[in-house]
Amino acid sequence: MAIQRVKSKWAKTKVLLLSEPLRERIPVTRRWQIPQLASMLDEHGMVYVKPDQGTFGLGVVRVERLSDTDYTYQSGTVLQRFSSFAMMASSLQERIGSRSYLIQQGIPLLTYEGLRFDIRVMVQQNPKKEWETTGIIGRLSHPKKIVTNYHSGGVIMSIDQLMHPHLSQPQTDSYKMWLSEIGTSVARQLQTRYPRMKEIGIDVAIDESFRPWILEVNTLPDPFIFRKLNDKSVFRRIHRYCLAYGRRLK
Ligand SMILES: Nc1ncnc2c1ncn2[C@@H]1O[C@H](COP(=O)(O)OP(=O)(O)O)[C@@H](O)[C@H]1O
Ligand SMILES: [Mg+2]
Repeated sequence: MAIQRVKSKWAKTKVLLLSEPLRERIPVTRRWQIPQLASMLDEHGMVYVKPDQGTFGLGVVRVERLSDTDYTYQSGTVLQRFSSFAMMASSLQERIGSRSYLIQQGIPLLTYEGLRFDIRVMVQQNPKKEWETTGIIGRLSHPKKIVTNYHSGGVIMSIDQLMHPHLSQPQTDSYKMWLSEIGTSVARQLQTRYPRMKEIGIDVAIDESFRPWILEVNTLPDPFIFRKLNDKSVFRRIHRYCLAYGRRLK
């Protein structure tokens, strides 16, 4: 039977929210609605608005409330300013049209040399049919963009390098173990609803207090980013597991 893929971020988020321990790792997420945008900006100051079924960072917008009368949003490399909530919201609504979008609490990402980064955690079913975290890698955003996706100009880097200014190497090593455990918990939770899933790629944000947040889970993760690591054994194992559960790589 075919490997299970799930496109809707909303559907996957709802399954994760059923897990008590995972709930605190998930930014507040709502379906797009202007009143929700108002209340989430009041609460969080910054939110991400994104397509429910998007990929590659396409259509993702970062919205900020600077004051009662001062709002901005950025999509791609263009930042727009507005002098009221209503003007900002109707401009966004026009962009979104009737498509299915989500609003998510914005996480202030940790930075490296002034650029934001986040983490991709690859979790696969191993040949013993157990969930195993097989790769953890960082993605540094393009300087002019609000997403870190490789396909939007993000640069793949090792988490060791990205965390170097923030944590000692032993601290980074235990942080990676923590991320590995979060990874397998996410996989097991999604498996309750999606039994034929074999692999996931979790986008994890780390905020300024080093708290990890699950931004989204991909069910068709790109294995090839792991070829960029110096440690070639990481990609080799990922590749081997892909072949074992029948994913054809091209
Ligand atoms: N809530 C958020 N807080 C901070 N950054 C975010 C948030 N949501 C998305 N991003 C940034 O945008 C990127 C793309 O968003 P994501 O939800 O992963 O959609 P896609 O399916 O297009 O990859 C993320 O990797 C991250 O860099
Ligand atoms: Mg993503």
